[in-house]
Amino acid sequence: MNVLTEDDLHLLETARAASEKAYCPHSHFYVGAAVETEIGVFRGCNIENDSYGLSMCAERVAIFTAVSAGAQIFTRLAVSCIDAAEDDSVDSKMPCGACRQVLAQFMPPTALVIIDGAGTFLLAELLPQPFRMNME
Ligand code: THU
Repeated sequence: MNVLTEDDLHLLETARAASEKAYCPHSHFYVGAAVETEIGVFRGCNIENDSYGLSMCAERVAIFTAVSAGAQIFTRLAVSCIDAAEDDSVDSKMPCGACRQVLAQFMPPTALVIIDGAGTFLLAELLPQPFRMNME
């Protein structure tokens, strides 16, 4: 696993702290995320619903919170599945596919995604070929 810079670690600590706010009565799986933008760092946690499909992941809550605050430049994101045991497979710590597509909407392919217990990845490594609309 790659070594975290001091800035990466700071963002990861913010993601871990954000997980404390998770609303996850169904899974009891607390997740936190933090995204760094040109107007500051925004946090998110997973928010579940009794109608399961309406639940929202921490990464998307962080990104949507940042967008709604006016952020336009998204440089790095950290995510922590704080409940995944250290010896759990890396799979249980990775962002889901839907979140990867949302990250690709707002972050460049070279943006760093810091994943607690799994390492630091380029967004392009996590989702090499995101869907994109031809907006011409
Ligand atoms: N979850 C996230 O918040 N982010 C992910 O990338 C994977 C899964 C949440 C959704 C649900 O509340 C719980 O973890 C269990 O799937």
